[in-house]
Amino acid sequence: MAQVFVSDHPLIRHKVTLLRSVETGPKKFRELIREVAILLAYEATADLGVKEIPVQTPMAGANGYELTDKIGLVPILRAGLGMVEGIWEMMPTAEVWHIGLYRDHQTLEPVQYYNKLPVHPTVQVCLILDPMLATGGSAVATVDILKHWGAQRIKFVGIIGAPEGVERLTQAHPDVDIYLAAIDDHLTPEPSAPGDPPEGYIVPGLGDAGDRQFGTG
Ligand code: PRP
Ligand code: URA
Repeated sequence: MAQVFVSDHPLIRHKVTLLRSVETGPKKFRELIREVAILLAYEATADLGVKEIPVQTPMAGANGYELTDKIGLVPILRAGLGMVEGIWEMMPTAEVWHIGLYRDHQTLEPVQYYNKLPVHPTVQVCLILDPMLATGGSAVATVDILKHWGAQRIKFVGIIGAPEGVERLTQAHPDVDIYLAAIDDHLTPEPSAPGDPPEGYIVPGLGDAGDRQFGTG
């Protein structure tokens, strides 16, 4: 069964509060997405394989370690883009493979518009990056794509999840561990009156993660 890790780290709690705030503008929002992504990736990579290697310090020989897993960072466009840069700095040999999906406004189901994965898998561990796990449709579709590609180990690194999305992803892919900063209360229902928010947004959430990063809201 999938492991669902929800961080209670004080730094993450503090930063997620700022992310949620309606007062936070795009520049600060992007910085926070980047920082929270690094902190969550630290947890998500705790079980990566290493092999022992010798290393020479200025003083003596020592035992060292080298990562054995080739890592693929897989941001879901657009909002996942903001999670790439910081994590990539921590693991500069990772490959980055973009998957373009948007949610159809009527059905809330993901529509794929970009995928340039090569024919055969080139990495051992894929970290899917997307700040929002709402209905779970985009995450499930991305895991489907990566499994069809031949990826063996896949983890989902998000920031805020809805219970509905966590349930859908764990049911569809029980072998995919999920790393989040928070699981929120519910998703907005279909609007019933003018001025109601659109359907399928996480409450309390942080609004539209893509629009808030790119200033397009
Ligand atoms: C958002 C978000 C996820 C998706 C989550 O993307 O970044 O990809 O919605 O919703 P789901 O769990 O119900 O599939 P959106 O489709 O708004 O596209 P954008 O990132 O380009 O704004
Ligand atoms: N996508 C977002 O950006 N925010 C949500 O709350 C749900 C989907």
